[in-house]
Amino acid sequence: MIRLVVTDIDGTILGGESAGIRAWSAWVAQRRASLRLVYASGRLVGSVRATLLAHQLPEPDAVIGGVGSEIHLAHDAEPWPQWTAHIDRDWDRNAIQSAVDAFGTAEPQPAEVQSAFKLSYFARDVDDQWRATLRSRIEATGSVVSLIYSSNRDLDLLPARADKGQAAAFLAAHWGIAADEVIVAGDSGNDLPMFEHGFRGIVVSNAQPELARASLTNVYRAARSCAAGVLEGLVHWEKADQPNSTDAAT
Ligand code: GLC
Ligand code: MG
Repeated sequence: MIRLVVTDIDGTILGGESAGIRAWSAWVAQRRASLRLVYASGRLVGSVRATLLAHQLPEPDAVIGGVGSEIHLAHDAEPWPQWTAHIDRDWDRNAIQSAVDAFGTAEPQPAEVQSAFKLSYFARDVDDQWRATLRSRIEATGSVVSLIYSSNRDLDLLPARADKGQAAAFLAAHWGIAADEVIVAGDSGNDLPMFEHGFRGIVVSNAQPELARASLTNVYRAARSCAAGVLEGLVHWEKADQPNSTDAAT
C-alpha cells in the first residue's frame, strides 16, 4: 500500500503541461485520507510555499526544503527542531566556505538560496575527481558534508546527515511508515539520495542524465514527463500492490 509520496517539484511536478498537474492532483485528492504527501525541493521552504500557492498544488503534510537541509511540518513557520538537531554536527559553515573559495572555480549562488545548513554554488561541468578533491579539502577542515551535484551545474554542500533521502527516511520513521509504503519521485541529482533507502521510485522521462543513467533498484522509469510521468508511476506502483497483479514490483 502507498502511504507516503515524497516528490520533487521543479522538473518533476512542474515543467510540463497543466493537464498532467491536474490529473496528478486529482489522484492525490482521491487518496488523501490514507496518504501523506511531502514535497522535497532544492529551494528553501519559503520559496516552495510560494510555488505551491502560485500553482495551486495539493497541500503537503511536510515540506523538505533546501535539498534536505530543512523540514517544516504542515504549516509550521519554524523548521522542525528534531531534524535541525539531527543534522547539526560536524558542520562549520564558515570553514567550509573558506575551503571552497580557496579551491576556486565554484561561483556562489545568490544569497537568497543560502541558509544556515546549505551552501550552494554554480560549478559547471565538473567531474567526479574535481568533486572528490573538493570533498577532501573540506574534510581537512574537520567538517563532513553531503556533496550534491545536479544538472551539471548546481553544487550543494549540506551537513553529512542532510539530503532529500535522509530527510524522507526521517519523516517515514517519524510517522511509522515502512520503506515499501513510500514512493519517491524526481528528475535530477539532488533526488538521487531518495532512491537509496529501499523506497519505490519514479523517474520522469525528462530526467537529467545523472538520474536517467543512474543504476537504481525498485524504480519505475516513466514514459511521460513531469506530473504526467509521476502519475504514470503511481498508477504502476499501485497496480503492483494488487494481489492478482501480473505487473509485479521489480
Ligand atoms: C534549487 C536551489 C539551488 C540548488 C538546486 C539543486 O534550484 O535553489 O540552490 O543548487 O536546487 O539542488
Ligand atoms: Mg527537480
